[in-house]
Amino acid sequence: MRDIKVKPATGKLGIMCVGLGAVTTTTIIGTLMTRKGLSKAIGSFACEGLMRIGKGSEKCYKEVKDIIPVADLNDMVFGAWDLYEDDAYEAAIKANVLKSNDIEPVKEELKAIRPYKALFDKSYACNIDGPNVKTAENRWELTQELREDIRNFKEKNGCDRVVVIWIASTEKFIPRNDEVHGSIASFEAAMKANDTANIAPSMCYAYAAMREGCPFIMGAPNLCIDIPAMWELAEETGMPIAGKDFKSGQTMMKTVLAPAFFTRQLGVTGWFSTNILGNRDGMVLDNPENFETKRRSKTSALENILDSDVYPNLYSDMYHKVRINYYPPRGDEKESWDNIDIFGWMGYPMTIKVNFLCRDSILAAPLVLDLVLFSDVALRAGEHGIQEFLSFYSKAPMHKDGEKPIHDLFKQFAMLKNKIREFAGYEADQELD
Ligand SMILES: NC(=O)c1ccc[n+]([C@@H]2O[C@H](COP(=O)([O-])OP(=O)(O)OC[C@H]3O[C@@H](n4cnc5c(N)ncnc54)[C@H](O)[C@@H]3O)[C@@H](O)[C@H]2O)c1
Repeated sequence: MRDIKVKPATGKLGIMCVGLGAVTTTTIIGTLMTRKGLSKAIGSFACEGLMRIGKGSEKCYKEVKDIIPVADLNDMVFGAWDLYEDDAYEAAIKANVLKSNDIEPVKEELKAIRPYKALFDKSYACNIDGPNVKTAENRWELTQELREDIRNFKEKNGCDRVVVIWIASTEKFIPRNDEVHGSIASFEAAMKANDTANIAPSMCYAYAAMREGCPFIMGAPNLCIDIPAMWELAEETGMPIAGKDFKSGQTMMKTVLAPAFFTRQLGVTGWFSTNILGNRDGMVLDNPENFETKRRSKTSALENILDSDVYPNLYSDMYHKVRINYYPPRGDEKESWDNIDIFGWMGYPMTIKVNFLCRDSILAAPLVLDLVLFSDVALRAGEHGIQEFLSFYSKAPMHKDGEKPIHDLFKQFAMLKNKIREFAGYEADQELD
């Protein structure tokens, strides 16, 4: 008899999104349209995925949602915070990602999603500003208001559980400072002292979420939950945390190609990645301090996969450069180019070009949905702390000091499936599918 480790998904699941921009509205609309039978959750492993369970002659393929109790899309309720007052319908129209015939059928539900006032500090995202902002005196008081929002949302919507996910703008780069970020006690003292240089707004949302018994997911590359105080808080409150930075387009391709070169023992001398995008995300990233946060997240994968400690002759001279260019005419339809200079037998050089004409929010939406659904499963399985099995969805997978994250997309997928097997009471295994 299998021992399923996950409690059933009873009642409503609240999803509180920090940020009601392009990715959030695209995720909400896709979910609402899917539950009306007007669309499909394409790209969502939690909703549409099939995977093997059992080994050898016992093996069979089942839908993920038949293996573990994933919350039903009909039981999901969405809420958000944003510094703009637009409801989800107006925000979706402005984001200009989806066509109106994909928005209108769920207009009434979208109009009902009005953002709570944001905890916003312009010094963390200086290219945007808006009126829907909390005004309490210090980071501690502001965070108490966020906690109140979560309680109100939960009560108003009769939610059994709530997951909080950051889908807001990328904050400026701040370094980890263990005098402040080293423990819950020092972190709380800094909030009360209104240490705005070290306590980013995103950290306040994460703190509020965990204190209210909600898992927290970081979808941007912010420092936020990558600090010991947050790991300690996740332990103390028993909350799962996951992140960071959705692995949607260019980095997804990198973490497929780089393992191929490594496996074939092809050398890499250079990898130049550039992008043009014209949405609000691009506008925020146009500021060098905000771009620095993204640059660090986007460069971490290659150095990890093309390990120069293993093959110094192949990778120690690799030159890796990442650029993002704000180009308004493109809107959400980002285009990325990768120029990869490799070498093979007898050192002869070759070049690979990748030109990805993507849609940023279309790629990100199913990742948001899966991260939320699997974090909720983790919560019901009694898991807490960093959820490594969700690395599959992140550009810079969270890890504790001294641990090495896994970036290779297919290894991450194996980790995800093994954790699902474990949740479902099957043995984790290395069998080929
Ligand atoms: N689309 C992708 O493929 C992808 C991939 C990886 C990461 N991301 C990240 O996801 C995030 C969202 O992307 P997007 O395209 O939806 O951006 P967006 O600019 O359309 O939406 C972000 C929203 O967050 C709001 N916001 C900013 N600071 C806030 C705060 N402190 N509190 C509440 N709201 C706040 C903004 O007003 C804006 O409406 C960005 O950080 C982006 O870098 C996106």
